[in-house]
Amino acid sequence: MQNLDVNKIRSDFPILSRLVNGKPLVYFDNAATTQKPKDVIDKINYYYSNINSNVHRGVHYLSETASKEYEDTRKLVQNFINAKSHNEIIYTRGTTESINLVASTYGRNNLVEGDEVLITHMEHHSNIVPWQLICEEKGAKLKVVPITDDGELILSEYDKLINEKTKFISVVHISNSLGTINPIKKIIEKAHKYNIPVLIDAAQSIQHTNVNVQELECDFLAFSGHKMYGPTGIGILYGKKELLEKMPPYQGGGDMILSVSFEKTLFNSIPYKFEAGTPHIEGVIGLSEAIKYIQKIGIENISNYESDILKYATEQISDIKEVKIIGTAKEKSSILSFVIDGIHPHDIGTFLDRDGIAIRTGHHCTEPIMRRFNVPATSRASFSFYNLKEEVDVFVESLRSVIKLFS
Ligand code: ALA
Repeated sequence: MQNLDVNKIRSDFPILSRLVNGKPLVYFDNAATTQKPKDVIDKINYYYSNINSNVHRGVHYLSETASKEYEDTRKLVQNFINAKSHNEIIYTRGTTESINLVASTYGRNNLVEGDEVLITHMEHHSNIVPWQLICEEKGAKLKVVPITDDGELILSEYDKLINEKTKFISVVHISNSLGTINPIKKIIEKAHKYNIPVLIDAAQSIQHTNVNVQELECDFLAFSGHKMYGPTGIGILYGKKELLEKMPPYQGGGDMILSVSFEKTLFNSIPYKFEAGTPHIEGVIGLSEAIKYIQKIGIENISNYESDILKYATEQISDIKEVKIIGTAKEKSSILSFVIDGIHPHDIGTFLDRDGIAIRTGHHCTEPIMRRFNVPATSRASFSFYNLKEEVDVFVESLRSVIKLFS
C-alpha cells in the first residue's frame, strides 16, 4: 500500500464512521457516488450561513462575494484539468447534461443525413441515448466500436469504423461497469487525423487519475461533481473555445443573454451563453472544496493507492471459485464487477447490506455491456482512497457466507 494516512483521511469523512445494520459501514459504491469530506459539507453550510445570494445579479456585498467564489471555482477547475482558459469551463448538472448539451448544440448544428457518430460498446446510457436522439432527428447513424471478452476496445475495429461520414466520436475514459481504462490519447490522435472532434466522458476517471485536456487534445470533456467527492447536481463541460463559440445556446433564459427584445436576442459570450437561469451556486462552491481536497491528497497518490486496493480485492475474490469477474482488461481502475452462478446480484447486494457493506447491483446504466457478457446484471464493488484492505476482507468474508447460504 502507498503511504497515505488512510485513517486520518477517513476521519475527514463523517459518514464513514457510522454503523449500518449494526455493522461498521463498508462503502464500496464509489462509482455510483463518492462520500463527502467535512471540508465540502462545511463549505456548503458556510455558503448558506454567510454569503447566500444570487450570482452575477447584484452590486451588493453578498452577491459580489458569492459571484467571486463561483468564478474562482471556474479557474480552479481550469487549473485542475489544465484548460487553456476559464471560459472553456461550463457548469452543468453533471456528466449527463454535459453530453446532452454537446449532442443538442454541436450535434444539431453539424450533423446531416447520412453522417455517423461513433461511440463504443462500453458507454454509459448517458453517452448513448443523447447521440441516438440527435442521430434520429438528423437522419445520422450511430456506430459502435466492439469490445473483447476482457472488456477492452478492439482498436483495429475502431480504425475501420472511421470514415469520411464520421462526424463525431464520443468515448468513455474509464468504464463504470468494467473498470477498463481506455487509451483515449490514441483514440483522439486517430480521430484528429480525420478532423473529427472527440468528447471524453470522464465521469469515472476525473477522481482517479490525472486528466489534462491540453495534453489529451480532446475537444470536449464531461464529468460530475458528486463522483469526485463534491455535491450532486453539479458537473462540468470542458470544450475548446473555438468550438464552443460556434455552438448555439443550449437553453434560453437569464444570464445567457447580452440583450433581449421581442424582435431579437443577442447571446452572452462563453461560458455564460450555456448557463441559463440561476445556477447551482452551492454545488459550484462545494465542488471547489472537493477539488482542493483531491489536490491536497494528490491525484498520483490516489491513483496508486486505489490500484493497490483493486489488486488486493481482485486477488482475494479470485480465490473464490464461484466468482466470475466481468471486466478483466489489462488497464483497469478501481472497479470490480462480478457474477456468481446461481445467485442473483440483487440477492448478493441485499445480503452484503446486512453486514453493512454497500455495493451496487444491476446493469449500472450500461445495458449493452450486460448483453455483451450475456448476464442480466452484475454485482459491483468500487473503491476509493478512503477504503481499507481490512474492508476488502470483510467484503470477501461476507461474500463467502452468501455463497454458503445459497449452496
Ligand atoms: N453511473 C453511476 C454508476 O455507475 C450512477 O453507478
